[in-house]
Amino acid sequence: MIPIASPCFQGNEVEYLLDCVQSGYVSNGGDYVNMLETEAGRVVNTEYVVATMSGTTALFVALKALGIGQGDKVAIPAITYIATANAVTMTGAEPYLIDINLSNLTMNTLCLEEALSEIKIDAIMPVHLLGACPDMYSIIKLGQLFDIPVVADAACALDYETYEADFTVFSLNATKTITAGTGGLLITNKDELYLKARDLAGTCKIGDEYMHYGIGYNLGMSNIHAAIGLAQLEHLDHNLRLKDTLYDLYYDKLVDVDGIYFFNKPETPWLTAIYFATDSDYLDLVQGALAHKGVTSRVLWRPIHLQAPYYELETSSLEVSEMIWRRSLLLPSGVALKPTDIEDICEIIKGAI
Ligand SMILES: Cc1ncc(COP(=O)(O)O)c(C=O)c1O
Repeated sequence: MIPIASPCFQGNEVEYLLDCVQSGYVSNGGDYVNMLETEAGRVVNTEYVVATMSGTTALFVALKALGIGQGDKVAIPAITYIATANAVTMTGAEPYLIDINLSNLTMNTLCLEEALSEIKIDAIMPVHLLGACPDMYSIIKLGQLFDIPVVADAACALDYETYEADFTVFSLNATKTITAGTGGLLITNKDELYLKARDLAGTCKIGDEYMHYGIGYNLGMSNIHAAIGLAQLEHLDHNLRLKDTLYDLYYDKLVDVDGIYFFNKPETPWLTAIYFATDSDYLDLVQGALAHKGVTSRVLWRPIHLQAPYYELETSSLEVSEMIWRRSLLLPSGVALKPTDIEDICEIIKGAI
């Protein structure tokens, strides 16, 4: 059985875990949390990092730290993992869906600009979908023009890059390029935002006594998860290179197959997506053939307005999102895969159509 993405533990995970357990510091707070935050800050060249329980909670904390809540609207792309929309809803605000680019599946900035000109939007949350970088230059410029903050949901895109939004969020769940089991990293270069986010992810404590100046959500990462996360971070470079190789292998083997297309190569490949010609039944054929051989594949995330909790959302036109979703398939791309696995998968795909 080949899963869509599974982790690989080949480094210091067991040693750090043991050390963590023996130290007695197994909840939030502890050396591994501090070390993970420091090391992650170095990787992404960012001043401040808050390690949280998950990517979802990191997005929630970011929005709360920016004062987003009831009555606000946050622009997000129509295709993303549901956690992006849920994090907005958890604050009391409402997602406003923006269509995506056909080329790389990220938020279409022309549609965003149109929406910003027509309705009141209070924050922008672009997504690095499957590791593809949105047009952050234009999005940040639009944020400045309309005087609203930008939170980048880069859940799948932790890389040695510069991230310039007010906040950027990474997920460390088990399908990601590196994992902490479950976890999130919230990064920013802004002192005031960092302090707010840190306190909201904690208990808004003042000093060492039990004094709290506000309500925190207690969403910090545990030292146990941080121990795994730190060991994994030591392999980030290796895992990124492996993911890149896996993507290129898929591309080389499938790009010339009639009826199969690729989006632009993501800056930080995560799960490889292919899409099929409009009127073909290739998606079902390929998915069936893969399943028959024990290979997991997944259709692309269903657009948010086609998910039960969000049927009633006000949206702009979402033609590209609806069209792409029905025709795209995600292929196994985890760091535990070997190049020969990809070759076998490509043969199954070719044999199915
Ligand atoms: C785009 C996106 N946003 C948010 C999340 C949520 O991250 P987590 O599962 O760590 O809560 C994910 C997780 O897959 C994601 O892909």
